[in-house]
Amino acid sequence: MADHSTRTYESILELLPDEQNPTPLVRLRHTGLQHAKIYAKLEWYNPFGAVKDRVAANLVRDAEERGEELKNLVEPTSGNTGIGLALVANARGYGFAATLSKAIPAEKRTALRLFGTDLVELDDDLCPMPGQPEGAMAKAAELAERPGWTELNQYANPANPDAHYRTTGPEIWRQTGGAITHFVASLGTCGTITGTGRYLKEHNPDVQVIGVHPTDGHDIPGVRSRRALALTDFFTPEEYDAVLEVSDAEAYGQARHLHQVESIIAGPSAGLALAGALQAVPDEPGVVAVVIFADNAYKYLSSFRRHLPDLFPPEPAAPAPAPSNPFAQHLDAAFRLAQAGPDVIDAPTAAALQQAGVTILDVRNPEEVARVSIPGAVTLPLPQLSAGSLDGLPSDPSAPVVTVCAAGVRSLYALLLLKAQGYQNVKSVAGGVGAWVEAGLPTA
Ligand SMILES: Cc1ncc(COP(=O)(O)O)c(C=O)c1O
Repeated sequence: MADHSTRTYESILELLPDEQNPTPLVRLRHTGLQHAKIYAKLEWYNPFGAVKDRVAANLVRDAEERGEELKNLVEPTSGNTGIGLALVANARGYGFAATLSKAIPAEKRTALRLFGTDLVELDDDLCPMPGQPEGAMAKAAELAERPGWTELNQYANPANPDAHYRTTGPEIWRQTGGAITHFVASLGTCGTITGTGRYLKEHNPDVQVIGVHPTDGHDIPGVRSRRALALTDFFTPEEYDAVLEVSDAEAYGQARHLHQVESIIAGPSAGLALAGALQAVPDEPGVVAVVIFADNAYKYLSSFRRHLPDLFPPEPAAPAPAPSNPFAQHLDAAFRLAQAGPDVIDAPTAAALQQAGVTILDVRNPEEVARVSIPGAVTLPLPQLSAGSLDGLPSDPSAPVVTVCAAGVRSLYALLLLKAQGYQNVKSVAGGVGAWVEAGLPTA
């Protein structure tokens, strides 16, 4: 037996909660209610960070006690059961794979990988749904067919609600000294509400059991809309006293209030549950409500950023990728214009200009120049020119320059580049050095 008075443990699994080691129950001080007392049960004090640690541990315990030979576990999960199972599996020496939706926050998927899980990421709802042949549930069932693999299946395994019947319910009963009047939980697999609710009603049938769910198309990981709940085995509304719907805006708004006013670092589904509790619980003397806060905010920073944008400075815009050639975008059009324009001259005209002292700029590569060249020409290969070099060119931009290459194409690019650098009087030789040779002009 672990000694919780010293909180010194021989294994991390001894930290799993029970009546002797309950997760904390903390009174909310700023609910706006006069009489009713609202207590939050802080489930991130579980050893692996969420209410689902209870379920993960109980699913494994139950299978072991039934004599199942466990080697590798596979489970469809919205994240928290996966994290709990991954860590229970590590401690027990089992392998673990999770099938889950790509819509689950990156933080949770990163945590799962970090904790050694094999992830199979699929296009599915935020919370896995039955009846989707390509979804997380079908994939887990398929993977569990392999020898040595077992699916414990939190959605249909009675060990899920039983985890709460054995631990969450007794803890709350004891922590409130039996004074609890209302129990409120958000609804995912419904293990929490069903197992805890059963225990509490067995001890006092007047305890009001209230479930809270999000709207269709919601963005709150771990919970299910009413439509999805209809397909959920442990959703047994006949056992509950009320089922309420809360919007994403209310849920995230309540979470923000919890952080900034109550100093409670709750995740989105805790905000959802509290918003429902504040709708359902009467503000009367003697009312003691307990609300499950399934996990804390840190796995959902990307979700909070989406829903509370005023808290976050806009992301700096990604810098536009620098074009490799700054003229590339407009070059083709400019090139065609230049080709048809008055700046293209024939080789004899270029030779006459050179005679009159004009600089000839040969933009071919050194190997081409070595084969045949124009005597007295300045050579500056096009790549260097386009990188900004003006070596050998007149420094006065009003001085005329004639560009030449092998056939008259690169020299036109060079003409455009020089004009962009401020040279006002640039010509390009049509047909390049080829035309120069054909015209019988001097070469070296
Ligand atoms: C963050 C979070 N909130 C609420 C729930 C709902 O709990 P339950 O599946 O017991 O209904 C879950 C379940 O995964 C969860 O991960």
